[in-house]
Amino acid sequence: MITVLALLILKAGTVSAMGTVTFENPDICALKGTSVEFRCSYSYPDDETVQKAAWFKGQSQYGIWKRVKLSELPSYENRTEYVGDKQHDCSLAIHDLQDGDTGHYYFRFDTENFGWRSKTSVHLTVTEPNATVYADTVRARDKVTLECRTSCQLSNIVWFKDGRPVAQPEFEAKAEDSGKYVCAFEGHESALSDPVFLDVQYPPMNVSIEVTYLDEPTVGRSVIMTCQNTANPAADNYTWYRASASSLSSMSQVDSGQMVLNRSVNAADTELYICQARNKLGESNSTEVLLIPLSEEGTVDNTDRAQG
Ligand SMILES: *[C@@H]1O[C@H](CO)[C@@H](O)[C@H](O)[C@H]1NC(C)=O
Ligand SMILES: *[C@@H]1O[C@H](CO)[C@@H](O)[C@H](O)[C@H]1NC(C)=O
Ligand SMILES: *[C@@H]1O[C@H](CO)[C@@H](O)[C@H](O)[C@H]1NC(C)=O
Ligand SMILES: *[C@@H]1O[C@H](CO)[C@@H](O)[C@H](O)[C@H]1NC(C)=O
Repeated sequence: MITVLALLILKAGTVSAMGTVTFENPDICALKGTSVEFRCSYSYPDDETVQKAAWFKGQSQYGIWKRVKLSELPSYENRTEYVGDKQHDCSLAIHDLQDGDTGHYYFRFDTENFGWRSKTSVHLTVTEPNATVYADTVRARDKVTLECRTSCQLSNIVWFKDGRPVAQPEFEAKAEDSGKYVCAFEGHESALSDPVFLDVQYPPMNVSIEVTYLDEPTVGRSVIMTCQNTANPAADNYTWYRASASSLSSMSQVDSGQMVLNRSVNAADTELYICQARNKLGESNSTEVLLIPLSEEGTVDNTDRAQG
């Protein structure tokens, strides 16, 4: 009995000294759809010859952790490539990485006299960048946070808005920040996340009146005034104010509701107009427009007076 035990211990000791498997990088993060190579080397006594070499994946089957040969797993068909040899290189390449490839990988080789299983494993995590934005609809000056979720850290995360780099993933929303955002790992910008959209809402801004003269400047003038503005959502309510030359300081409401105002300007009177554009977030007045009647020479004069 004692002899048998001693022999067993001797045998175990011999085995562990006989072969080694070394993984260059035991913890790998890789992008979905790309290829990865597990760099691996192995050694064994010089007088042995390798008969078989294979890679396995650790899998739980019916609650039991097993090492299943990759060649027996249909999901790896045509995607694995043993780039090693039967001497000392046991490297494995996996192409077109899929989410399900995440896991532990083991190497095993057999010589005439013994089989050697790697004690440790290569752990592979397959990731892809996943963009989110908090919140996707905000008002100007609200805080916006962009978050790029990944299952492992391949490199730094970079953000792009409509194709241009974004300096900070956290910012105070401005009108021009509305748009399409994507994230990627730095150096892997060909693998972009699905886009997320940010909608920054704000009350009407840069309101101005565009004046179009319909008729030849003869006695009376037909004029179309358009209340230009930028707003998000678009302005849906307009109010027009008018003051006559005799009392430029007292404005009276002319019309309400429309973006366009048609006027027939009395040739004898100078008038001043303002439009007010409104959306659900607020309202804003335009700069003033002065409609001056025909001068004696018959020229049309129109002056924009910037609002103080
Ligand atoms: C693997 O390649 C073989 C030969 O080209 C092909 O017949 C088979 O359909 C491929 N299998 C998969 C899962 O792509
Ligand atoms: C308003 O006008 C300013 C100056 O022309 C411009 O820089 C800005 O982008 C405009 N704002 C919007 C929301 O168009
Ligand atoms: C436009 O705004 C005015 C003033 O707030 C309001 O009285 C009117 O009902 C609004 N019109 C529409 C169509 O929303
Ligand atoms: C816009 O102009 C109207 C008419 O002059 C005035 O009653 C109102 O207070 C102005 N609104 C703003 C926001 O300046």
